[in-house]
Amino acid sequence: MKKALKVVVTAGPTREFIDPVRFLSNPSTGKMGFALARAAAAAGHAVALVAGPVALKTPKGVRRIDVVSARDMLAAVEREVAAGADVLIATAAVADWRPKRRAAQKLKKGEMDGTLALVRNPDILKTVTGVRKIGFAAETRNVLREAVRKCREKDLELIVANDVTEKGCGFGTDTNRATLVRRDGTVTRLPLLTKLALARRILREI
Ligand code: CTP
Repeated sequence: MKKALKVVVTAGPTREFIDPVRFLSNPSTGKMGFALARAAAAAGHAVALVAGPVALKTPKGVRRIDVVSARDMLAAVEREVAAGADVLIATAAVADWRPKRRAAQKLKKGEMDGTLALVRNPDILKTVTGVRKIGFAAETRNVLREAVRKCREKDLELIVANDVTEKGCGFGTDTNRATLVRRDGTVTRLPLLTKLALARRILREI
């Protein structure tokens, strides 16, 4: 029997509020992260799923921590890693920027001048250390080159890259055609798989 690991998975989008009724976000549905959490729990690992706002059911045997913003997600991941995680798998589509100010009251159109000042959000995967790290790279061009760069810059063991413009890939789909890029530079191109099958394939790498 293989050793059970403590696995932390990030999933879904983050929301960065402008005022109480508006936010910046992206179309992530969380399917890849939830598939990974499900497959990891089914394989006997202890799974903490740090999820942005998504409409999915928590997989069986998974501990779920709901978050909203990138900064909330970072704090939750840091808590899990401090408590002793073995592996962090980052599938979340984290907003890279947030509004500089969050207005306490709904902004009236007359109060806006057509500009929105933004500040950078933390890079969760890059910031967190002391754990084995697996990342995802959803690209629209230069897929392999970007994956290799992110693998190095974020100190990852493995990065799962895909071209989100390809049929059957990307936000909201149930399938994905991914390329695995490992720290040692080896590359494996996978066929079109369901996200659950891809999740199982990724777990084999750990
Ligand atoms: N990621 C993260 N925190 C962020 C941004 C990204 O943890 N603030 C993670 C994602 O979950 C993914 C990986 O980093 O596993 C790559 O995310 P991606 O959005 O493709 O990359 P970026 O670092 O944002 O790079 P770029 O904007 O140059 O594409």
